[in-house]
Amino acid sequence: MKKHDACHDLTHCYNPAPMNITVTSESILAQSTPAAVLFVFENEHPTGPAALTGLLRQVGTKEFNGAAKQLIVLHTGGKLAPARLILAGLGKRTGFTPEVLRQATGLVVKKLRSSGLDNAAVALPDLAAVSQVVDAATLATYSFTQFKPVNGDDTPLRALTLCLPLRSQLNAAKEAARRAQIIAESSNYARSIGDLPGNIVYPAVLADYAKKLAREVGLKCTVLDKRALERGKFGGLLAVGGGSARDPRLIVLEYRGTAASKKPVALVGKAITFDSGGISIKPSDKMDEMKFDKCGGCATLGLMRAVALLKLPLNVTGIIAAAENMPSSTSYRPGDIVTSYRGKDKRAVTIEVLNTDAEGRIVLGDALVYARQLGASAIIDFATLTGACIIALGEYAAGLMGNDEKLQEKLRAAADRTGERVWPLPLWQDYKDKIKSDVADIKNTGGRYGGAITAAAFLAKYVGDTPWAHLDIAGTAWATDNRPYLAKGATGFGVRLVMDVLCNWR
Ligand code: BES
Ligand code: MN
Ligand code: ZN
Repeated sequence: MKKHDACHDLTHCYNPAPMNITVTSESILAQSTPAAVLFVFENEHPTGPAALTGLLRQVGTKEFNGAAKQLIVLHTGGKLAPARLILAGLGKRTGFTPEVLRQATGLVVKKLRSSGLDNAAVALPDLAAVSQVVDAATLATYSFTQFKPVNGDDTPLRALTLCLPLRSQLNAAKEAARRAQIIAESSNYARSIGDLPGNIVYPAVLADYAKKLAREVGLKCTVLDKRALERGKFGGLLAVGGGSARDPRLIVLEYRGTAASKKPVALVGKAITFDSGGISIKPSDKMDEMKFDKCGGCATLGLMRAVALLKLPLNVTGIIAAAENMPSSTSYRPGDIVTSYRGKDKRAVTIEVLNTDAEGRIVLGDALVYARQLGASAIIDFATLTGACIIALGEYAAGLMGNDEKLQEKLRAAADRTGERVWPLPLWQDYKDKIKSDVADIKNTGGRYGGAITAAAFLAKYVGDTPWAHLDIAGTAWATDNRPYLAKGATGFGVRLVMDVLCNWR
């Protein structure tokens, strides 16, 4: 084990050449790209030069009328510089949201990829569209192909030319494109680690990915291994990780973008590299999906990458609680009483373990105390915490809970802009009463009803009055089917959402 631990294979993380983005105020019709893309609202005829009108007149409204998700490829036959004109429907103008443009862009990129076209020019109506198109195009180029040779007719998008109407917007557009690209690439980076299976990524490997990232983008990285966790009495991480031959880790990444005296924002991620349930073992159906139980930690990594590359003017600390939850003779058991990390607190929280499959809240307890002890000004945590959250909200929104209305409102507003949707769930005292234990401070399950909320009530026990928001990403961390701009697999959920919050922090 030790020998193996010394040398991890970090070559599986996908690392593509970034897409080349050019911004211009010339027309798409003047571009020598193999394809030009035009977005069209439903039942609105696109206007433009005579050559374009002539071409468009040949299209019947039943073939294409601009309805959402419609796409048509016209071959221009040498009449225009680009050999193809792709029309992409946006649906009715009145129903337009940034998400509509992202989805249309995703479908266009899929079409380009399957057609063997690695670059295109896109006509954009305004500056706001720049980040949405760059965002979706970058996300749509990611796929998890490290273990299967790439399909011959799948070409990654190499370059994109964005054509804007006004010359005066070019500088702002370049900056918007640069930022959107860094953030979406950071989301892809999080996805590429999230997609890796449990035999390849375990806590020590995740820690090595964090160290590698720290070297590459300029972060301070501290990893607490098992011995350090024992010395510091991180009872939660040690209990949950105790059943696995792959030891747990606490991974800390620090970014300093302003005076050292300014308290950092803490981003805390659950990273169970595989969640078998432990002694309270899960049913085998879909157990493979529990490789995604590390996605909260992966979002934290992606966020720290983006924060560092964009040099945000604030201090941010990422804290990842990494463990593998396995059944064995050294596992923690139902009935055990576990003592959380205490830090500088007067007294540690004690936990009665009723179900070893409710492990995420236990490792997060330690990480949240650690965040508070670092003097965090606010804490946002990401966790694939409960199946109950998927029952409540499905796959299209994360559960949002916390103790601070303002912070929750920031996340809610960011969700509208980024399309990474969140929905509030209440955290009333009655739910907190549900996790009271007869033999310890709290127990780790609150019964079947309101499971996402009682899990958050457990976390609330650790944050004191530090402003805190909890995102239960169990339903949103991975997609079970292909979406317009996100392939099946890890979604990177949280990276784009929380970058939006951090970019507008004060
Ligand atoms: N990682 C799971 C939650 C989960 C389940 C996420 C399915 C995504 C898909 C978590 O550790 C867990 O097992 N939670 C239990 C808690 C229960 C035992 C109180 C759950 O939700 O069933
Ligand atoms: Mn579990
Ligand atoms: Zn879990």
